[in-house]
Amino acid sequence: MNQQERVSPRTAAPAEGSSCSRLSPWVLLISALAVKTALMTVGLVVLFHRICGQYKTLPQNASEWHCITSGPASQKDSWKCCPEGWRPFQESCYYFSDDQMPWDKSQQNCSGMDSQLVVINTKAEQDFLYKEIGRQMKYQQHSIHLYIGLRAQEVGQWRWVDQTPYNETAAFWRPGEPSDDPNELCVVISYHKDIFRNWNDVPCRIHSYRICENAAETL
Ligand SMILES: *[C@@H]1O[C@H](CO)[C@@H](O)[C@H](O)[C@H]1NC(C)=O
Ligand SMILES: *[C@@H]1O[C@H](CO)[C@@H](O)[C@H](O)[C@H]1NC(C)=O
Ligand SMILES: *[C@@H]1O[C@H](CO)[C@@H](O)[C@H](O)[C@H]1NC(C)=O
Repeated sequence: MNQQERVSPRTAAPAEGSSCSRLSPWVLLISALAVKTALMTVGLVVLFHRICGQYKTLPQNASEWHCITSGPASQKDSWKCCPEGWRPFQESCYYFSDDQMPWDKSQQNCSGMDSQLVVINTKAEQDFLYKEIGRQMKYQQHSIHLYIGLRAQEVGQWRWVDQTPYNETAAFWRPGEPSDDPNELCVVISYHKDIFRNWNDVPCRIHSYRICENAAETL
């Protein structure tokens, strides 16, 4: 509209300095836009990489994320996300396997998915696992064993896979367990309806289901 007004004084301007100073608002505006675009691009690329990076390490063909909010709904930054097929609880995501293998292979499979066999730290976590196993259709068989991330090198010297100190008062052995047999150095949740304290020590070579645990993604 008023472009002509601007063009004519510029062409008439004798010194380059004055034409520069007239251009500067535009230069500033364009620079600002360029910087903003660049920042947005970087931001999107970083976000994309983060999500894709996660996808690569996660199991199967996880096509979706499932998010829950732990804090007040208004608090935007309290979303915890788990990939499709993993169950969220507090700060973690849990994977309940469909197939059975020895303890070593189970731990390898979990670490191949950027996680580890589950480390049970609290009664609340034990309660979540107990209820979750109970509601999984695939475990509706007579007697189900699922490996957890607890084993011993020597009888009685229990070690969690993440080096969390073993805490006797936060352990949930079945009555009469552990048997402290030198042939039974790995630990399963031995699931039965109505038995909350369900850990059992078993030989590490038996094929069992497994529970993997991974930190939830915070959005
Ligand atoms: C992954 O893909 C296979 C074959 O396409 C399909 O059968 C299976 O249900 C998919 N799994 C998930 C978790 O989407
Ligand atoms: C873990 O086990 C699942 C189910 O059998 C399989 O789809 C996946 O490829 C395994 N991942 C690794 C890293 O072993
Ligand atoms: C052991 O577990 C109990 C019960 O959850 C807890 O009160 C206590 O603080 C724990 N001790 C250590 C050293 O973590």
